[in-house]
Amino acid sequence: MFITQTDTFSTKNNTVLITDSIEKLPASDFSKQELEYISRRQQDEAQLITINHLTNFLFVQLLDDKLAVFEQQEKLRRSAAKCVKTINQHKYESLYITDLTGEPANVSAFVEGALLSNYQFIKYFKTKEKKANSLKQIYVPKGLCSEKSVHESNLLLEAVYRSRDLVNEPQLGMNTPQFVQQLEEMSKNAGFKLEVFNKKKVETLKMGGMLAVNKGSETPLRFCILEWRPDNAKNEQPIVLVGKGIMYDSGGLSLKPTRNSMDQMKSDMSGAAVVAGLFQLAAKAQLPVHLIGLIPVTDNRINGHEYAPGDVIRMHNGLSVEVMNTDAEGRLILADALSYAKRYNPELVIDIATLTGAAKALLTHRGIPAMTNNATSAMDLLKESGTAVHERIVELPLWEEFNDVLKSDIADLRNIASVPGGGVIAAGKFLEHFVEYPWLHLDIAGMAFLSTSDGYLTKGATAAGLRLLFRFLKNYS
Ligand code: BES
Ligand code: ZN
Ligand code: ZN
Repeated sequence: MFITQTDTFSTKNNTVLITDSIEKLPASDFSKQELEYISRRQQDEAQLITINHLTNFLFVQLLDDKLAVFEQQEKLRRSAAKCVKTINQHKYESLYITDLTGEPANVSAFVEGALLSNYQFIKYFKTKEKKANSLKQIYVPKGLCSEKSVHESNLLLEAVYRSRDLVNEPQLGMNTPQFVQQLEEMSKNAGFKLEVFNKKKVETLKMGGMLAVNKGSETPLRFCILEWRPDNAKNEQPIVLVGKGIMYDSGGLSLKPTRNSMDQMKSDMSGAAVVAGLFQLAAKAQLPVHLIGLIPVTDNRINGHEYAPGDVIRMHNGLSVEVMNTDAEGRLILADALSYAKRYNPELVIDIATLTGAAKALLTHRGIPAMTNNATSAMDLLKESGTAVHERIVELPLWEEFNDVLKSDIADLRNIASVPGGGVIAAGKFLEHFVEYPWLHLDIAGMAFLSTSDGYLTKGATAAGLRLLFRFLKNYS
């Protein structure tokens, strides 16, 4: 557990005091000079004021009453990352966080930022003990934060860490069977159901997209079905979550062309890792929503038997697709999963995928482009949830005219647009041909994996989409 509740709060420890005014600070814990210093820094509009007491740090975090709640919370998350950096630099092991205005949500946001930023993936270093962050434990006051909320924060952060680990593990240690093994372990441990289809079963289901992408692989594909069905589920029909599980994307025969463009492609299963983390969290937190998860798992490689540009394949829903680029593989495996989802008569289906480089070019790591066929109220709730957790949503249109560029001379569809531009939408528009229910599509290619850290978004995998979808499902129920 990362977060512990405590009665014994003392500013002799490393302590964060969140407050809206200096008057609320416990005067006896600061010298006169320190209070003068704090007040001077406040006039400079500093937000996190650091006081080094030699045996411990005091951090004064000033709230800004001009900010909306969600803006304030994001400021707190970002401040927390700075604070954690200082704590680790000085090799301290614990941090106490309290709010002098009595607002537990401020503490939660600060704790969340602190723990998100304290994540590391260091298992492959020889000197991993030396590299490990010293901060191990965060304490919050018993009276202020409810036991339930602390427990839920712990579970959320555990899921984020797990999801980041799944992505950060290079493909050598995270190929199709290894990922499925992880899922099995998570299902047992958390208590959600898991069923795994092998290649034979996928052949009988005629999932032509999955089979085509998997042709060039030495490892056979898997199709994973997760289920969380609590007795007290608020929804009558399930919500289905679909995650792109490309364990490694070389591009296939349309080999990724530009310099370095393959370096981060172990992260092409980020959508799958988010769905897996979400099921762990839903089960452990006893989320009252009936959920189905669909994760198509394969890599996209070449071995002499791979599919090729110009091939026409038959998809699970019967549509034929002319493959014009084998690097547009994500939409092929997602399309099969999306048409499979129909059998659940779902209330809503959400897919999450590192689908297009264009999404990264559009919003960088600062937001997630999303599209819907007509689920406007679900989209509104998604945007609201995105703003609250700072995994922000930008809606893009699926106008009818965008279909023109997906027309093929010899098949029902082509898998990439026939003209440049609009790549994020073209991918969404392609998927729309495979859905027959209310649907949200999230392209996390920009946010899923960072080459430089940004505050509490650590380098490498971010698990972006997990906090978003958990918040969404909580609000939904
Ligand atoms: N996995 C990639 C998308 C991607 C790119 C994710 C960069 C994360 C960072 C996807 O399979 C892909 O290769 N998409 C192509 C589509 C194109 C061929 C239409 C792309 O975006 O270049
Ligand atoms: Zn690709
Ligand atoms: Zn891909």
